[in-house]
Amino acid sequence: MKRRKFIAVSGMLASAWALPKRLFAAAAGSDRLDAKARELVSQMTFDEKIAMMAGKLGFLAPSIPGPYQAVETPGCPRLGIPGIRFADGSRGIRFEGSTCFPAAIARGASWDPALEQRVGEAIGYEGRARGANFFAGVCINVLRHPRWGRSQETFGEDPHHLGRMGVAVIIGAQNHMMACAKHFAGNSIDRSRHYVDIRMDERTLREIYLPHFQDCVNAGVASIMNAYNSLNGEQAGHSKHLLKEILKGEWAFPGFVISDFGRGIKATVPAANAGCDVEMDRRRQYGIKLKLAVAAGQVPMENIDDAVRRQVREQLRFLPLESRKDYDLSKVGGTKHAALSREVEQKAIVLLKNENQALPLERAEIKTIAVIGDLADKLNLGDTGSTWVTPPYAITPLQGITRAAGSEIKIIHHNGLDLEAARQAAKQADAAVVITGITRLDEGEGHDRLGLGLAPKEEDLILAMAEANPRCIVVLEGGGAITMERWRDRPAAIMMAWYPGMEGGNAIADVLFGDINPSGKLPMVFPKSEDQLYPFDNVSKVVEYGYYHGYRYFDRQGLEPAFPFGFGLAYTQYKYANLKLSGKKIGKTGKIIAQVDITNIGARPGEEIAQLYLGYQGSKVERPVKDLKAFAKVYLKPGETGTAQFEVPVEKLAYYDDGSGKWIVEEMEYLVYVGPSSKKESLLSDSFKVV
Ligand code: BGC
Repeated sequence: MKRRKFIAVSGMLASAWALPKRLFAAAAGSDRLDAKARELVSQMTFDEKIAMMAGKLGFLAPSIPGPYQAVETPGCPRLGIPGIRFADGSRGIRFEGSTCFPAAIARGASWDPALEQRVGEAIGYEGRARGANFFAGVCINVLRHPRWGRSQETFGEDPHHLGRMGVAVIIGAQNHMMACAKHFAGNSIDRSRHYVDIRMDERTLREIYLPHFQDCVNAGVASIMNAYNSLNGEQAGHSKHLLKEILKGEWAFPGFVISDFGRGIKATVPAANAGCDVEMDRRRQYGIKLKLAVAAGQVPMENIDDAVRRQVREQLRFLPLESRKDYDLSKVGGTKHAALSREVEQKAIVLLKNENQALPLERAEIKTIAVIGDLADKLNLGDTGSTWVTPPYAITPLQGITRAAGSEIKIIHHNGLDLEAARQAAKQADAAVVITGITRLDEGEGHDRLGLGLAPKEEDLILAMAEANPRCIVVLEGGGAITMERWRDRPAAIMMAWYPGMEGGNAIADVLFGDINPSGKLPMVFPKSEDQLYPFDNVSKVVEYGYYHGYRYFDRQGLEPAFPFGFGLAYTQYKYANLKLSGKKIGKTGKIIAQVDITNIGARPGEEIAQLYLGYQGSKVERPVKDLKAFAKVYLKPGETGTAQFEVPVEKLAYYDDGSGKWIVEEMEYLVYVGPSSKKESLLSDSFKVV
């Protein structure tokens, strides 16, 4: 039998090599760039420097919608510094006519950094073609609780996974423009984001809320945007601890920090002295106030020079891209990127349940399909805040299913508002596909979800359709986890399609009909009920974040979720065997290499996402039951066996010691779990010792 080998390495290392050589050299802290930037700053007047430190309305034609989408900094044209031309996004560049990709949370479910890098590349291309040079759509905040309104903008709940996906989109986008990772740090609540003080201990901050930002810094991200919230009593944009000590100090970030728009900083002196380098979207605290603060000796001139030097440095690094003139506007929202959007959604859909082979819908067996639900013929692309993308066209699920069904299969559509009529439609059909979920009215920027379930009328519809037709398939759309206990056992199949992008309808149909074997896995736990989770408080002025959230919390409490982190089914099955470790004893500077054989024992080719978690035996401090340290995607034909290889540097086993402020790798036993999801029973295990 044919065997193949696939390599998965830990986040940071996995990606740094992929940065174009020229930019990587620059990102790695080249003295030449710094020296050049320093020299240019020394030639600037005080007014020029202050001007560079704040945004203003600018560069785009007024036809581009959105109040924030025309923001720029002036640069210093006389010295050849172009300035920042800001573009937002996440599921595409936030300009009219751009390609709309599936939401970042969907892309997180693909667990596919190589694919995400292609998305970043496409987004970067489109932004640059439209005149921007700065992509601010890399949201890597931890999805701490699924009621968070911006869950859709990030990649999931796990820091390792967030780092790998964030780095991938940055590398792709930075082939064309500067990228910015946000929101630094602790922004996982929306309603109170402008005033909430997030409290957490230093260990929680270092181990859970920051590692993925450091991965992005190591991969050469040009910029970081601060969060609106405070952290441990200090506005994030005024925090010397976050910006000076950690980001620019310990991590040696050479790039620049921008404030989140409007209220990202709230006072001139603390922001400028903490290292917030640019105020967005326009001057409120900087500008004249900053000039006065410098004149009064409250902000040292070195801080101004440092802020400007950082911006100049990054602009110099990306200068070769500024002069590239071959961007083709017809590619913006064009067929190539639309095809990529479809491919991404095909790989993002998570099959949660499939009984009695309800899926795929074999064309030869089916004569009539009832497509039910209000969302069946609606575009549900996600939030209309910072991530709003208006693509040239978009395909609804009904359009996609109708196209894929072809002329031999009859499609009956019912919006489900009249339950009795919908029931009749479902009864007549060989299969009933219910398209339901949540929308931008339920979750988005500034507004968190009120609960985790579907609207009661949607649940009633599912129950009725499952009763009317034994082959009832529920397709869910939305950004965060959805609770389903009232109806989960009724329909034969359930799949999570997220906010599926402009080609979403086609991709959903591709999976329903089995033209694509689903491979997505959940980047977050799906709880049975909100009661299983820790509280979500989006009103209080102070909110405490504990060390545990998501699957780590479920493991700790011994709770069984509806669907575990990392879970997803396929139209085939995979068997894991022969977990092997590179050694039983490893030194502190070494790395552990694990290999596992995965066999496709079903009848269809497919892609399996294999995951490696580590557990800790006899630690001095409390450790998670297990946490994700590596993952790999393996493509296997029927009957084929592949070997997935995972590498985890021993330094990644460290915990952060609050007392000494050091990362400590303990000499003790570590458990290695490898398998298809975080569910303990599904994992193979072994152990090794660090000596
Ligand atoms: C959001 C940022 C965004 C900015 C500009 C803010 O309200 O928090 O993520 O980049 O708006 O659109």
